[in-house]
Amino acid sequence: MKEFDLAAYKEMVKSFQDRDEPTAWFDSIYTDAEGDYRDVFWADLEPNPYLLSWLSNSDFEHAEGRAIAVGCGVGDDAEAMSKAGYEVTAFDISPEAIRLCKERYPDTKVHYLVADLFDFPPQWTEHFNLVYECNTIQVLPGKYRIKARNAMISLLAPQGYILVSCRSRLKGEQEDDIPLPLDKEEIDGFIRCGLKEESFEAYDDTQDPPVPHFFASYKKPVMSKPG
Ligand SMILES: C[S@@+](CC[C@H](N)C(=O)[O-])C[C@H]1O[C@@H](n2cnc3c(N)ncnc32)[C@H](O)[C@@H]1O
Repeated sequence: MKEFDLAAYKEMVKSFQDRDEPTAWFDSIYTDAEGDYRDVFWADLEPNPYLLSWLSNSDFEHAEGRAIAVGCGVGDDAEAMSKAGYEVTAFDISPEAIRLCKERYPDTKVHYLVADLFDFPPQWTEHFNLVYECNTIQVLPGKYRIKARNAMISLLAPQGYILVSCRSRLKGEQEDDIPLPLDKEEIDGFIRCGLKEESFEAYDDTQDPPVPHFFASYKKPVMSKPG
């Protein structure tokens, strides 16, 4: 496995963000892995345990409905939703991420494809009963975070659920960090857009030192207001 240089990574991301090219660098993270999904530095290589817990505890009646994984990376969470009974679409802006998913899961039932959250196919609007977001908002800067949140909400069918998993921070702290964790006010933006918070957890992960996280679920009402 290649040595990961955190300082060089942050500098690279910042240079793209400073040029207002916030998504132009993602594919390089996957091509740097040179064909081995295990070398994608941010991939946990196992499903998010908070997602698994939600999938097994939820009495959500759409358990055989349509789900979408936003910025699906190397696919662990999309595969978990598929195993739970959903018909899953999983997309990423990185062509190499999607190629790695297809190679990793040759017999998958998940529909993997390259797509941009900021320009998704119109037929996806309000099409999904479950939208899953893990760590995508936090790697985007400024106005693109709001755009991403609103696009995710647009994917969600009335009465559907969105699950949001991310790093967290206290308001006013780490303001120049890359990735930039969400504070409570930012994640509450899903509520301000008219969704109902169904569950909210703040927890520290198992890294040393531990990294604070949020895992939240929101339900879309029959009618919702634009963000
Ligand atoms: C930090 S990674 C997280 C990957 C995966 N969700 C995980 O938890 O391992 C963020 C992902 O979002 C993807 N992404 C960023 N902007 C995107 C966009 N506009 N449309 C689709 N995918 C995007 C990136 O390519 C990357 O795979």
